[in-house]
Amino acid sequence: MRTDLLTSYQEMIETALRQYLPPPEPSDLTAPVKEAMRYSLLCGGKRIRPVLTLAFCELCGGSPEAALPFACAVEMVHTYSLIHDDMPCMDDDDMRRGKPANHKVYGEDMALLAGDGLLTKAFETALSAEKTEHAAKAALVLAKYAGDAGMVGGQCVDLKSEGQAAELSLLLSMDTGKTVALIEAACRMGCIAAAAGEKEQEAAGRYALGLGMAFQIRDDILDLLGDPQKLGKNVGMDAARDKRNYVSLLGAGKAQQLVREYTEQAVSALEVFSGDTAFLRELVQSLENREA
Ligand code: IPE
Ligand code: IPE
Ligand code: MG
Ligand code: MG
Ligand code: MG
Repeated sequence: MRTDLLTSYQEMIETALRQYLPPPEPSDLTAPVKEAMRYSLLCGGKRIRPVLTLAFCELCGGSPEAALPFACAVEMVHTYSLIHDDMPCMDDDDMRRGKPANHKVYGEDMALLAGDGLLTKAFETALSAEKTEHAAKAALVLAKYAGDAGMVGGQCVDLKSEGQAAELSLLLSMDTGKTVALIEAACRMGCIAAAAGEKEQEAAGRYALGLGMAFQIRDDILDLLGDPQKLGKNVGMDAARDKRNYVSLLGAGKAQQLVREYTEQAVSALEVFSGDTAFLRELVQSLENREA
């Protein structure tokens, strides 16, 4: 894979995120929530979603800079979802991105507010994009895919199915919600930033479905077989909470077969594009056997 391109996208994203969330003045009464927001947003993470936004924008003939507000916005929503996902009322996890989870450092009250703050900041950021027409379209996509019809809905299914019998169809709707939705928003917003047509946006959606499903199933496998040092988060949490996922239903071997099939689906969705799709093809392929 063009790791130089990946690194350059990641550097653009890190710089921009820091600009959107500057350190607060010590005298600022709202410093505690701002510190908590910065702690989770700026402390690492693979930045897969914002990289996808920049890469789709470039594939569709735009400059990655045009997509940067949308890229940062989706990373803010994703980070908020992780802060809340780790809280005791949800997955009750104490490690994230190689460090103590947000609520372990700042308390549950500030962790809740940090999530709220990042969700809100995401829309401020997306709507600050220079081209107001693109900003409005991108913000609408992000809102739709982040909410009850997307990530929030998927998290609801995840929590409510703990300890319950589950079929494959339930797992599909859970994962398309909790994980595919934000990845799809990321890909579609990249297309919007480049003023790409409906055909390209739909293909980006199919790529996101393949990548997102493969990504979540691989996450479930890593929860069973992964190395917490490499992952930066605890393992064995899904079994401990009696979570339903592809590994609990099919076993790790069949689940990895599905990761392969969804990866192939993502690759074939790229056929629609006339530009150079090598980076996006190699990116999804590199995630197939990821260990972090
Ligand atoms: C973790 O996402 C949550 C899932 C959807 C599996 P990532 O694995 O992208 O987490 P970061 O952003 O790199 O920390
Ligand atoms: C995460 O699913 C999905 C979201 C945060 C929206 P998981 O609960 O499996 O993610 P990890 O394993 O804690 O990162
Ligand atoms: Mg969870
Ligand atoms: Mg979790
Ligand atoms: Mg997981």
